[in-house]
Amino acid sequence: MPITYNAEKRIFKLDSSTSSYIFYVFRDEHLVHLYYGAKIPDDNVIDLRLRIAGCSSFSPMVAGCDDVCHSPDVIPFEYPTTGVADYRLTAFSTKSAEGNTVCDLFYKDHRIYPGKPSLPGLPATYANDESEATTLEVDLADPVTGALVTLVYTVFEKNGAITRSVRVKNCGSKEFLIENAASACVNLQLGDYDMINTYGQHGKECTLCRTPLGHNTQSIRSTRGASGHSHNPFALFPRRATTEDAGECYGFVFVYSGNFDISADTDFYNAKRVTVGINSEGFEWRLAPGETFTTPETIMVFSDEGIGAVSRELHRLMAHNLVRGKWRDARRPILINSWEAVWFDVNEETLVAFAEKASTLGIEMLVMDDGWFGHHRGWNLTSLGDWFVNKEKIPNGLSHMIERVKAAGLKFGIWYEPEMVCEDSDLYRAHPEWALQTAGRPQSDARKQYQLDMSRPEVVENVWKQMYDVLSTNDIAYVKWDANRNFSEASSSYLDANHQGELAHRYMLGTYALMERLVTTFPDLLLETCSGGGGRFDAGMLYYSPQIWASDDTCGLDRLSIQFGTSMAYPAASIGAHVSFARRAPFATKAAVAEWGTFGYELDPRKLTDEECDEVRREVAEYKRNWETIHKGELYRFIYPQESKERAVWSFVSADKREALLYLVTISQPMETVFTVKLRGLDPDKYYREEESGWVFSGALLMKAGYNMSLRRQHTGDVSVLRFTEVNESPSAS
Ligand code: DGJ
Repeated sequence: MPITYNAEKRIFKLDSSTSSYIFYVFRDEHLVHLYYGAKIPDDNVIDLRLRIAGCSSFSPMVAGCDDVCHSPDVIPFEYPTTGVADYRLTAFSTKSAEGNTVCDLFYKDHRIYPGKPSLPGLPATYANDESEATTLEVDLADPVTGALVTLVYTVFEKNGAITRSVRVKNCGSKEFLIENAASACVNLQLGDYDMINTYGQHGKECTLCRTPLGHNTQSIRSTRGASGHSHNPFALFPRRATTEDAGECYGFVFVYSGNFDISADTDFYNAKRVTVGINSEGFEWRLAPGETFTTPETIMVFSDEGIGAVSRELHRLMAHNLVRGKWRDARRPILINSWEAVWFDVNEETLVAFAEKASTLGIEMLVMDDGWFGHHRGWNLTSLGDWFVNKEKIPNGLSHMIERVKAAGLKFGIWYEPEMVCEDSDLYRAHPEWALQTAGRPQSDARKQYQLDMSRPEVVENVWKQMYDVLSTNDIAYVKWDANRNFSEASSSYLDANHQGELAHRYMLGTYALMERLVTTFPDLLLETCSGGGGRFDAGMLYYSPQIWASDDTCGLDRLSIQFGTSMAYPAASIGAHVSFARRAPFATKAAVAEWGTFGYELDPRKLTDEECDEVRREVAEYKRNWETIHKGELYRFIYPQESKERAVWSFVSADKREALLYLVTISQPMETVFTVKLRGLDPDKYYREEESGWVFSGALLMKAGYNMSLRRQHTGDVSVLRFTEVNESPSAS
């Protein structure tokens, strides 16, 4: 059983294939965490209770606790609250009708059941069938405010993952405010840890960063109204000595696209506590009697086989239990996007010419990016919000142009920025109050656009109708959903003064509702989300869009660190990656890097030389041959570009272990050209032929002694892609 409850000892034990998560009911009252780490197969875990530290000086004791010294300040509460002498990071905070922030949660009840519930209006992982997941719900109650807090845990047994969310119901008679409601709080095992997260900006997303956790609080967070470029909403916590391939590591991913906070706190005992949830800054949620609030979900994984194993567990879960719909398992069309080729200057003749040329290269879909709509969007100053076709650019109508694109043999995709409006638009002129702004304050400029108030139902309805008109009357296979500004001076003329603190979350709920409507009304549509590159690359978006544009930087060499960083949490099939004319790397290198993603082109195909056309045909054929190993196989990272500065090395091993693709990109002239790579994930008892040389190696040799890379070309920008395929023969003795 993946989840058990020992009624006598009052211990809950959650077991996945690789990890155990254990907590219990302390003194019949509070939930206290006991363990999260490598799987403990037996049930005899009672002595874990003895490891809880007793008292700390100058801290009050647990109320009514006279037999042993127990300070809330050192107890690893499962879901700690404010105002009751736990002075570390807390998970839950309310403001009562009387205005105080004291809250205490007592165990009340629990349920264990097969399967996994969905979260109303929110993205979340799902079980494909009930046998895949088991759920535990634990009810905790605060007798004073009347808050009934239900902690929801789901174990994906085979995947090694546990998901968490929290439901808060007001069972009292007075309204109260939720000021903070983390989705997960975890007390790590004692020891020294690092925090791995990413930071970045437009064109420099997901730069990796590993820092020791000290005696302080370390956080990554967003107040942008979007997860944002600055920090991606995931964090890994390896032990100090943990490497890519060995040692203990925790991983937390927040399945949410708005303001978030992931914090880690170290107390004076060197005990670490991690919280993951909506950022409490600027957030409050008013809960009237009878109402319920549900937090977004957090995914947790643990491995004692290194950082790479944590990434792979996350990839598997997202690929099978988060991404939905027909495109989850299918090969995505190889597309050509107009953006870097013509910017806003899209028009029928150019696009049809693109399609005709692209079809000779094996490309399968043409995407018309920004510029096609409104009265005149010649640059980024006008027209967002007016989602009708611009007659000057597409004089014969969209259907006619799409027919021409299809006649060339390509599918057609289109760009939208549904959450935005320009001042110069019919929509803004008709409804200025639909834009987020604060009366009396000038609105900061960002691309001459405002954010629509997605908390307002008629805004969502209006944008939906406009999109539906276009999508239901045209053969459109793909939508790119962009979002190019973040919150500032944001308030809503729809919400009253008491509910302004709900705006950022309600904005996300409205956006999610629109996305849900889009993907359920048009189930065959492929949705790719984007936010000025990877400004909203998160697990929340993956629930709606199987792929997300990772960065506007399409140079293969720059992309290496972006994709290594992104791969910490997200699977290859989610990473939007294209080949462009960006100059720093040769075509073959850019294509090899873009293969680690959904693959496409972002250039004017008419400008390709004959030689380049042949190269593109080769790359397209390669991708068609490799995609299954990449999208459905396992990623192994060997040399990180950011650490090495000279090279990046990674591989994908197919799910059946019959094929491995090994990639080497040289970033700058290396000092040492003699080096080996110890492959991973192969079957040690099988034999593999390296395609180019024809040499045959055992899996054991490739993994223990390594493959000698010294003969590969290693000048700046060079790429080598080596294919190892299982064969039945053993190597010749000669
Ligand atoms: C930002 C995106 O990242 C680009 O790919 C492109 O779609 C532009 N927006 C269009 O304005």
